[in-house]
Amino acid sequence: MHPKARVLFSLACLCVVFIPVSGLKGSDSTPNSLILSCGSANGGSDENGRKWEPDTKYLVSSDNSIMASAQYQDPSLPSAVPYMSARIFTSEATYKFPLKSAKRYWLRLHFYPSAYSSLASDEAFFSVVAGGVTLLNNFSSSITAQALTQGYIIREFSLAPLHSDNLNVTFRPNSNTHSGAYAFVNGIEVIPMPDLFEAATVVGISDQSVEAGSLSMQTMFRLNVGGQYVSPTNDSELSRTWYDDSPYLFGASSGVTSMADNNVKIQYKDMPGYVAPVDVYKTSRSMGPDPKINENYNLTWVFQVDGNFTYLVRFHFCEYQMTKINQRVFDIYINNQTAMARADVIAWSGSKAVPVYKDYAMYVPDGQGDEQLWVALHPSTSVKPMIYDAILNGLEIFKLSDAAGNLAGPNPTPSSMLLKAEPEKPKSFAQTKSTDNGKVIGAIGGVASLGVVAALCLAVSYQRKRRVPGSESQSSNWLPIYGNSRTTVSKSTISGKSTISSNISNEAACNSRHFTLAEIKLATRNFDESQVIGVGGFGKVYKGVVDGTTKVAIKRSNPSSEQGVNEFQTEIEMLSKLRHKHLVSLIGYCEENDEMILVYDYMAYGTLREHLYKTNKPHLPWKQRLEICIGAARGLYYLHTGAKYTIIHRDVKTTNILLDEKWVAKVSDFGLSKTGPNMNQSHVSTVVKGSFGYLDPEYFRRQQLTEKSDVYSFGVVLFEVLCARPALNASLPKEQVSLADWALHCQRKGLLEEIIDPHLKGKIKAECLKKFADTAQKCLADQGIDRPSMGDVLWNLEFALQLQENPETVKLDLQSMENDTSENLRNNLSIGSSTEISGASDDLNSSEIFSQIVNPKGR
Ligand SMILES: *[C@@H]1O[C@H](CO)[C@@H](O)[C@H](O)[C@H]1NC(C)=O
Ligand SMILES: *[C@@H]1O[C@H](CO)[C@@H](O)[C@H](O)[C@H]1NC(C)=O
Repeated sequence: MHPKARVLFSLACLCVVFIPVSGLKGSDSTPNSLILSCGSANGGSDENGRKWEPDTKYLVSSDNSIMASAQYQDPSLPSAVPYMSARIFTSEATYKFPLKSAKRYWLRLHFYPSAYSSLASDEAFFSVVAGGVTLLNNFSSSITAQALTQGYIIREFSLAPLHSDNLNVTFRPNSNTHSGAYAFVNGIEVIPMPDLFEAATVVGISDQSVEAGSLSMQTMFRLNVGGQYVSPTNDSELSRTWYDDSPYLFGASSGVTSMADNNVKIQYKDMPGYVAPVDVYKTSRSMGPDPKINENYNLTWVFQVDGNFTYLVRFHFCEYQMTKINQRVFDIYINNQTAMARADVIAWSGSKAVPVYKDYAMYVPDGQGDEQLWVALHPSTSVKPMIYDAILNGLEIFKLSDAAGNLAGPNPTPSSMLLKAEPEKPKSFAQTKSTDNGKVIGAIGGVASLGVVAALCLAVSYQRKRRVPGSESQSSNWLPIYGNSRTTVSKSTISGKSTISSNISNEAACNSRHFTLAEIKLATRNFDESQVIGVGGFGKVYKGVVDGTTKVAIKRSNPSSEQGVNEFQTEIEMLSKLRHKHLVSLIGYCEENDEMILVYDYMAYGTLREHLYKTNKPHLPWKQRLEICIGAARGLYYLHTGAKYTIIHRDVKTTNILLDEKWVAKVSDFGLSKTGPNMNQSHVSTVVKGSFGYLDPEYFRRQQLTEKSDVYSFGVVLFEVLCARPALNASLPKEQVSLADWALHCQRKGLLEEIIDPHLKGKIKAECLKKFADTAQKCLADQGIDRPSMGDVLWNLEFALQLQENPETVKLDLQSMENDTSENLRNNLSIGSSTEISGASDDLNSSEIFSQIVNPKGR
């Protein structure tokens, strides 16, 4: 009954991207640290008051460099310093930093891909060599930032002791491979660090170890397992950033998280406190209360890494529940090999609440860009421990420099991030058609017509930026910039047709149909204006008819749009592999005469929003609204879990939920999620938190996009459906402008009934309303970790529907289920109070319950 195994893969995991090293209180007083704002005449302070000094005096020669300023400040930047100034190198140049000790150093490089003077961000390709080690090669911060959906990038390296008085860091444009390439950097930190590394056992090769202490390395992942984001300020010793591990968990069984009781004091004993902060050791993830389930699965994390490198994997443990040896014993696997059999944290540490760490080294061979590192835990049943369980508190993965002194991997390629359709065999268009048996293949409909217009204007006004979820549309009245300042258009416009089809993979090509321009012209009556149903950043959207009767929506690239050939290809690659009843499908494409055209399902009833408010259409009955929400939730659930990698939609809103001729909800615009045409679109710098109505507040705080950002946006959608008002309405009194804030406020005060759509008054059963509103409220939790997964949301909505339709039977079901659940919980040893089951109570993070309740009812 387990749902399909899944790989959670957030693009952000290709490499670790650090949040600015804020509040380095300890280190800026450290005399040896250099904290440089590059290309800045006077330096300055960042948001934490940390001082950055100018870089000029460390340049061996500044002849071939330019001091430049970024023209646009992305709202995700934590502060102008060091990102708004840059040192640009048009040819090789070297910094020479004096070293005062023979220790290891952190070298952190900060990059903000943006246009600098006349240089476009996508023309920067360069290598960086430090102390003889190649850190980056042919590096494009622009490609990397897009792939990782980050506004800026921080790369952290730990350089092996140099035994020299100077550290030379050389920037070299890769002009041999990219003509006109330049190099740049915004900030450099050189910070002495303690000797954190020693020899690590090589997994699978007994008696062999890697002398990590003498190697340079790149930080790839640093996770506070079962816990929350730890900011550099809360890791004062070394100002590191620790991330939540949940985006890397594999499979539906993600165990349970827990936190040590307040009275538990973590004792470092022989281990230096800088190894990892208390916050890491006070939280953990274990397998769960049921020994039978634990015996039958591995608690697994999956990481995308570069091939042909050895990785140092550091496991942090701290047992704050068990006290004796042989209570919790487990095996540790890395890439299917046993790294450690019969791991027993208490045996290592000697007692409760004493942290330990273990290092293992693993070589990952070259695998054509799809290399992964799997870390798995399983109870060691052979030694009959008291409980069948496993635990992990923290995990760090470092890439070790190879024999050639290299640490550089390739830039992430969009294609390696595309899902490899696992759930369904790819269908060719012909098959699709025949299985659908002439059923009208729907369409993108009025796809966010206004929304996309807004987005287009924004895109043109600013140039390099990430797409931000919820680039709001209809509330144009409050968007400050519109239409004016059509300044820079990126040069990535259409560069000729021949490149397109040659680069579309075979799989994508046979999943989608290739249309001739003549067919498209016939379908749209030669692009007749009367056929236009929307205008987007990409160009216009037309409705049309192909094959005599099949209605389609046709997106035609505007030759001057920002949409480049690469984005066009990416969209085809991605969309052609996604097929789901609740996702709008790509039918095919046309590339002829420099045209780039995409053909989608036609959605007869347009967007969900146009049926909710500001409309003269009939008001949707409650049950239908609920079913639409359930359909959309299914589509999102599929994006998050159904494909090989997690796809984060990033722009969940009521104009991206479309309705076909049978009122089936289909999520649209997801193809643009990561690498699509809107990547370059901007948002408004003055509005950050939640101003767009659907925006996950955590996204801005942490710069980390997870599927929980979609859950947040979906929570806003749920309230929008219930209250029939826009996510933002600037004409309302201040406290009511944001629907998310207002609905939460009313919900907490028990006044929600007063703001629901008057047309629904008296039509919603009380229990159903409660379930629905509770679910929406949980989606809007401030912290991603407190929000339910999309699977939980779906389950709760299904449940709400049953409460509406059939309250009696459901209550019985629920009772027996809850009994079952609490018994399980009670069986959960004596961990009791110190354990928080993630997703708690009736929202139990439980795929089993989900499928039990859902499947028998044939939903
Ligand atoms: C757990 O992983 C190990 C190593 O890859 C594998 O041998 C074992 O079969 C897995 N166990 C389960 C229950 O999946
Ligand atoms: C792997 O790395 C070594 C250097 O350690 C290099 O010589 C070799 O060419 C690389 N192999 C591939 C397939 O990239």
